[in-house]
Amino acid sequence: MRDLLSKDLLRGRNVFVSGGGSGVNLAIAQACAELGANVALCGRTEAKLKLATAALEALGVEAVYAVADVRDAVAVDSALEVAARHLGPMDAVVCGAAGNFLAPAERISSNGFRAVMDIDLLGSFHVAKASFEQLRTTAGNLLFVSGGQSQMPFVHQAHVSAAKAGVDQLMRTLALEWGPLGIRSNSIIPGPVSGTEGMRRLAETADADVWAGMVPLGRFARLEEIGTIAAILMSPLAAFVNGAQIVVDGGMSLSGSSAFNQAVLSAATPSD
Ligand code: COA
Repeated sequence: MRDLLSKDLLRGRNVFVSGGGSGVNLAIAQACAELGANVALCGRTEAKLKLATAALEALGVEAVYAVADVRDAVAVDSALEVAARHLGPMDAVVCGAAGNFLAPAERISSNGFRAVMDIDLLGSFHVAKASFEQLRTTAGNLLFVSGGQSQMPFVHQAHVSAAKAGVDQLMRTLALEWGPLGIRSNSIIPGPVSGTEGMRRLAETADADVWAGMVPLGRFARLEEIGTIAAILMSPLAAFVNGAQIVVDGGMSLSGSSAFNQAVLSAATPSD
């Protein structure tokens, strides 16, 4: 599918991806690299980042990583500095690092709620803020990895629904504030994606067929399908897209969250 795009779409541009060591964020990094971008990654786990960086370099672009937990503003600042020192200022920055677990609201501890808010929302803010000067230099753009929870509530996702709604309002606010400076901000909202940690966790609650049946297209997304749309959003092809939530979920959001809610609630035992 990516063959339909010019291999030079992002040639010579620099892309930073938080949480880029695995999953959807790595798929976004790979899509950008396949389209010519040099890539900087940050994440918590050095082993994953090393492997991911090597895979990106194998695509013929420059790649670098820095270990940073997005909850730590100083570490995020330093990761963006490392990226700029090796590659030059960033043209696009993905606020992708996220955490999730399924739990009924009455069982989520204050620390558990805070962990997800801090990773998803505060972490996204840290990455956006740390990249501001670089993006101003390049007239670059931000891409937030949001979720369907930002638009409609899902049971056992009180913390994530709150955090993702915040992420999208942060995105919209930056689109207003930084748009006049030439910096675009957008969100991508992936539906269920095969081969991710999020789907592994969902599979513990119900059969994969149950989840796939909620998607009008009848299947999960492939990682590269999310990566491709993300790369286009960060490219000049999307030069007039600012403040948008781009849903890439096979139409799942059109039918609401009730099927998900029923599957999760019926999988939960009364003592859960
Ligand atoms: N149900 C209820 N609470 C849970 C939980 C679960 N399944 N998993 C974690 N928590 C709680 C912990 O009990 C802890 O709270 P406590 O101190 O009151 O006991 C709190 O969350 C923080 O957990 P901890 O593991 O110490 O934090 P962490 O910073 O290492 O991990 C998480 C953050 C919780 C988001 C973890 O799930 C994570 O690292 N996820 C990253 C990967 C991921 O989620 N990928 C999917 C993205 S869609």
